[in-house]
Amino acid sequence: MGAGRTRQREKVSTGNSIHIRWMIRRDMPEVMRAERASFEYSWTEDDFLRCLRQRNCIGMVVEQAERIGGFMIYELHKTRLHLLNFAVHPSVRRTGLGRMMVGKLVYKLTSHRREKITLAVRERNLAAQMFFRAHGFRATRMLQNYYEDSGEDAYQMELKAPPYDAFDGFGVIGPVNRIAQFEEN
Ligand SMILES: CC(C)(COP(=O)(O)OP(=O)(O)OC[C@H]1O[C@@H](n2cnc3c(N)ncnc32)[C@H](O)[C@@H]1OP(=O)(O)O)[C@@H](O)C(=O)NCCC(=O)NCCS
Repeated sequence: MGAGRTRQREKVSTGNSIHIRWMIRRDMPEVMRAERASFEYSWTEDDFLRCLRQRNCIGMVVEQAERIGGFMIYELHKTRLHLLNFAVHPSVRRTGLGRMMVGKLVYKLTSHRREKITLAVRERNLAAQMFFRAHGFRATRMLQNYYEDSGEDAYQMELKAPPYDAFDGFGVIGPVNRIAQFEEN
């Protein structure tokens, strides 16, 4: 296991065939595959489309060798980014794709002078809690009966913006683009 994982990590850090870009309509089948493989209560395609039609809602995918490895959906607010959905397909987990997406978010945060990234994570989703903790997020409060589907509680987690020059270690990549392209493509 060690050798294979190390090779994949090197691929991530060199970044040649892996990039993060705006989600477009024709990504939906692969996004849905990752979504369904990741969550017991998954979003429908309609949920994605409804969300992405909002002007402040952004969808991004991480693409590796022309396959979608993962995606994230977040909202832009005046002082914060709120993460609504975030997943990496199980076949490519623990290879650094999630880390790259967090890096992208942190870059957006600092480059737009917003103060923090917020998200809600299910109480039972320990893997995601560990993942976000490993990237500096901290639980700030308990949200009781947060999910309509199961009635489960959630933790709100937050990452405060690091100093402007401190985000380099997250492997930030690529220029900013526009959400309008989601509908156009
Ligand atoms: C959480 C998730 C996005 C992580 O994505 P990933 O690409 O596998 O994560 P990375 O490879 O970038 O992991 C980076 C670090 O995060 C931590 N981490 C990631 N997954 C972890 C896990 N299951 N348990 C503990 N720590 C974990 C580790 O420190 C890891 O570094 P390491 O591999 O050197 O130990 C992925 O497991 C996933 O899609 N889960 C299902 C969907 C989900 O729960 N989304 C969040 C909703 S709030």
